Amino acid sequence: MSPTLLPLISSPRHGSRSSMTCHYRCNNACDAPVPNESDNARMRDLVEGALARRSLLKGGAAGAGALVLAGLGTASPAAAASNDLSAKEARTTPNLGRAAFTPVAPNRADAVTNAPGFTHNVVIRWGDPVEAGAPRFDVEAQTPEAQAKQFGYNNDYVGVLPLRGRQALLVTNHEYTDENLMFPARAYDDATIKKIAMAAHGMAVVTIERGRATGSWVRSDHRRAVHNRRITGSTPFTVEGPAAGHELLRTAADPSGRTILGTFGNCAGGTTPWGTVLSGEENFNGYFDASGPVDPAHTTSFKRYGLATTTATNRGWSSVDERFDLARHPHEAYRFGWIVEVDPYEPESAPVKQTMLGRFKHEGANVSLSRSGHAVAYMGDDERGDYLYKFVSADTFRKGGSPAARTHNKGLLTRGTLYVARFIGDGTGDGEFDGAGTWVALTSDTTSYVPGMSVAEVLINTRIAADTVSPTKMDRPEDVEANPVNGKVYCALTNNSNRGTAYPTDEANPLASSMTRPALGAPLRTQSGNRNGYVLELEESRGDHTSTTFGWNLFLVCGDPEAPETYFAGYDKSRVSAISCPDNVAFDKVGNLWISTDGNVLGSNDGLFRVPVTGPERGNVQQFLTVPYGAETCGPLLTDDQLSVFVAVQHPGETDGATFEAPTSTWPHTDGFPRPSIVVSYRK
Ligand code: FEO
Ligand code: CA
Ligand code: CA
Repeated sequence: MSPTLLPLISSPRHGSRSSMTCHYRCNNACDAPVPNESDNARMRDLVEGALARRSLLKGGAAGAGALVLAGLGTASPAAAASNDLSAKEARTTPNLGRAAFTPVAPNRADAVTNAPGFTHNVVIRWGDPVEAGAPRFDVEAQTPEAQAKQFGYNNDYVGVLPLRGRQALLVTNHEYTDENLMFPARAYDDATIKKIAMAAHGMAVVTIERGRATGSWVRSDHRRAVHNRRITGSTPFTVEGPAAGHELLRTAADPSGRTILGTFGNCAGGTTPWGTVLSGEENFNGYFDASGPVDPAHTTSFKRYGLATTTATNRGWSSVDERFDLARHPHEAYRFGWIVEVDPYEPESAPVKQTMLGRFKHEGANVSLSRSGHAVAYMGDDERGDYLYKFVSADTFRKGGSPAARTHNKGLLTRGTLYVARFIGDGTGDGEFDGAGTWVALTSDTTSYVPGMSVAEVLINTRIAADTVSPTKMDRPEDVEANPVNGKVYCALTNNSNRGTAYPTDEANPLASSMTRPALGAPLRTQSGNRNGYVLELEESRGDHTSTTFGWNLFLVCGDPEAPETYFAGYDKSRVSAISCPDNVAFDKVGNLWISTDGNVLGSNDGLFRVPVTGPERGNVQQFLTVPYGAETCGPLLTDDQLSVFVAVQHPGETDGATFEAPTSTWPHTDGFPRPSIVVSYRK
């Protein structure tokens, strides 16, 4: 990476600090002065130019002329890193894409268990300080104000973007809260718990830097980290795209329909080629209560989205903020379920809800650039029987690092066309679950293709619009991302216990029964439905991400390799790791797919797996690590130097009956209760 990638982009809020000297709690000396404002403008140009060049280089490597960008998540740390690794470090440290390792065996340990030869460190935990002025975490003296400055709960998506020298920006989602594990019994009143929980949702931007050990990363001193930021359940967002200001988005508090407070249910995400982070608002329906009957004008929509249509209490947030009462403020529900875009380089900038990407239970969004330069976002609607979507921008990515180019690129998600996927199998006689498919257009920013629905209505009630064009009902589409090496798109379909009953099987969703283990080492048993999930491999026609047709196959039918229904791209099943419930995906520079899991039904903790997608090892699934008891593996993110993999350990100890006083996990073992945390794994 170019040595010009050394910027620190400050904000007006932090401008007064711009002449301070770095003095981070850093194991590695960092004595460079923080640049002044004019330096920042120049450096902004440099970083954007470097990001754009990097994008093009990655595209060139994709072959078939496809400008494939898996987002800068995989690219960014190396940008910060590659200049700063010594030649010896770079030469002597095997990269994660090529390293041989002995797979981690299934286990129930309350620990992050790395493959032999690898280790990890905790980068940041729930409650650690993020913003300047954040108080020291005290589980007995939590406040909403403190939590709004501290690292949130249940970290999910992980993005890492270049900053300067040995530093980078870690961007995370905080999807939801486990109050029973967060609060000592009777220590807090109900209203305080809800307000703290609201502040523990959202996202975080955290400055990190290389640790002493090669491949390790630690958080920088938050008191001097000018980009550090929390986004919570009450942070103001602006609304962009064709549905901005629509009647259904207007409320008593926001008659314009263009300013929304907060984000929650933030699950997966993606880092864009222009250096912003996308985050999916997933299970937003559970945050709304109803104190009485809801206006029947909303019944059809609310039922399709799982929102209450009559008296109901969900999280109960309406008792501390009446906007969560659907009987009084039904339009508030239309203001969630979007992809949000955050610019971590501009800590003063309002995050954005991008309406052109539709409204559903967004798992996340990953942007690739087509060979023509269009931004293409792949997205899953994580619900049993829901759909796979993509968005193709009307405008093209502008190269170069000028402020004008960046402003242009930050508008790419506001205009274009939204599609939903229809899969057609070619029959199972060929021994594979595969076939062809079509991207069916739902709307552009100017023309709706759904009779009876306007552009804005399609975007606001996307599920209802999609229902009219017969897309394929999938088994919970989660992360969807293009492989920057081979250009193919990989989608985790996590499971669907109702496949074969409520949802008939088809070639893309073929299992009406599957085998699980009730406990580690217990015999396999057959259960109805697809319990272990699939990984779908999709290849756009002509290798062009803007194509409206594609080919597909089930690359993995997950589960225990001893179960007859499992399939590992034809690889020898006696040599692979068992894998259950794929959720998030990432890629290394060799093009291997990395898969994290959520909800293992084979008796083991969840884990992270590496699997080649080409060559003789295609399908050889190997478990790289496992996460602690009761936790889900999120992220993951491989640094571009291939030395580190970041993993979000979400909800450790989230098991039936667990409480703060009687936890089933105390990981990371710094306290007597569990703390969701970001870890980074690397070679010992
Ligand atoms: Fe929050 Fe779809 O997992
Ligand atoms: Ca077939
Ligand atoms: Ca997920």
